[in-house]
Amino acid sequence: MLFDSDKEIRHILYKLDLKGVVTEDLEDSIDHGHLVATIVKMLAERMELDKETTETIYNAACVHDVGKLKLSQSIYGRDKKSLHVEEVRHMRMHAKLGAEMLGACNYPLEIVDAVYHHHECYDGSGYPDNLRGDDIPFTSRFIKICDAFAALISDRPYRKGFDKETAISMMIEDNKEYDIKLFLNFMEMVNSPEFDEIIKMAEKMNEKHSYK
Ligand SMILES: [Fe+2]
Ligand SMILES: [Fe+2]
Repeated sequence: MLFDSDKEIRHILYKLDLKGVVTEDLEDSIDHGHLVATIVKMLAERMELDKETTETIYNAACVHDVGKLKLSQSIYGRDKKSLHVEEVRHMRMHAKLGAEMLGACNYPLEIVDAVYHHHECYDGSGYPDNLRGDDIPFTSRFIKICDAFAALISDRPYRKGFDKETAISMMIEDNKEYDIKLFLNFMEMVNSPEFDEIIKMAEKMNEKHSYK
């Protein structure tokens, strides 16, 4: 069964009795989860992954940044121009926090694992465990690429989203972070006509949040 990022994230917050989450952060997280999961699904289908793996990656993508909500208020200043070094360090805790939250809500281990490692880089420069290459779970390597693209084309409180071409060239520059085989598949998808629906979806979300 495929998750609905809205329902799932609200369910986790309710289960953990997590209060004080800024409404905009909650909406951001729900939309971002939905966007990443939609990209993930399109790529999984193009690559003809089996149903079980597709579901795991999709579901993990829906909730991959839920740990950020624990850091809500202390990090996501809506009036900020950029994040301070300390905040970036603090923000890096979200992968581990998210996995802990999912574990506490009894989510399947494959989902917890995928979320825990979603910021590992293929060259070993990521976090939380500096895993490298195929030591990183496949699910996390998969989400990493789709997440990076979704983040680049989305408006943030401190910057506008980049256009598709700029986002792609930024990712090519950082290609050492990605599983090259998955990355090539991703690049093929981004240049296909069906990908327009993803761009439209991101534009709608940017309009909805419209950071000033
Ligand atoms: Fe993340
Ligand atoms: Fe993310």
